[in-house]
Amino acid sequence: MIIKKETVEDFSQIYDLVKVAFQTAKVSNGKEQDFVNQLRNSGNYIPELALVAEEDGQMIGHIMLTKTYVVNGNITHETLLLAPISVVLAYRNRGVGSAIIKESFARAKTLGYSSIFLVGNPAYYHRFGFRATVDFGIKNTNDIPDEYVMACELIPNALQSIGGTISF
Ligand SMILES: CC(C)(COP(=O)(O)OP(=O)(O)OC[C@H]1O[C@@H](n2cnc3c(N)ncnc32)[C@H](O)[C@@H]1OP(=O)(O)O)[C@@H](O)C(=O)NCCC(=O)NCCS
Repeated sequence: MIIKKETVEDFSQIYDLVKVAFQTAKVSNGKEQDFVNQLRNSGNYIPELALVAEEDGQMIGHIMLTKTYVVNGNITHETLLLAPISVVLAYRNRGVGSAIIKESFARAKTLGYSSIFLVGNPAYYHRFGFRATVDFGIKNTNDIPDEYVMACELIPNALQSIGGTISF
């Protein structure tokens, strides 16, 4: 398997991959493939952190980390949002998701980022070091239950004294 930056030529295949992957997701609004396009067209897109996994020339996974912000009074802390992540059904439970998460984290660290946020199932994300943002003293402004809004430190204690609110 190789993991590399997405390119313009990949966009339409990624759209289909994300759409089909979320048809079997536990939670989906059916619009994750459009969310990918929105993120690319936003100022928060980081081309270096939008990755595809390929095996034998076939695209089997995709992940995006984009800029997001924790706001504490008049201080804004730039961090990352992991969303979405997709692996094609035939390749699930073989470590592809874990591999693209770990690779994206390594690349994020190289770019100077020290933390990552997401909304997702703790049963999957705990293994990568994610904990509820409330455990870091960071509030969540959405209606989503706190346990599903999670953060992970790429640098130990990076979130220790940030405080504030995360909104997606
Ligand atoms: C979530 C997803 C990316 C995981 O990819 P993957 O390549 O199968 O993941 P891995 O092989 O690295 O890990 C497999 C493990 O994660 C668990 N797992 C996978 N999806 C999970 C989920 N949604 N909730 C809880 N656990 C999950 C598997 O049971 C397996 O557990 P085990 O290691 O204890 O056997 C993939 O299932 C997918 O594309 N799902 C549809 C889209 C989606 O739900 N995205 C995430 C939104 S939060």
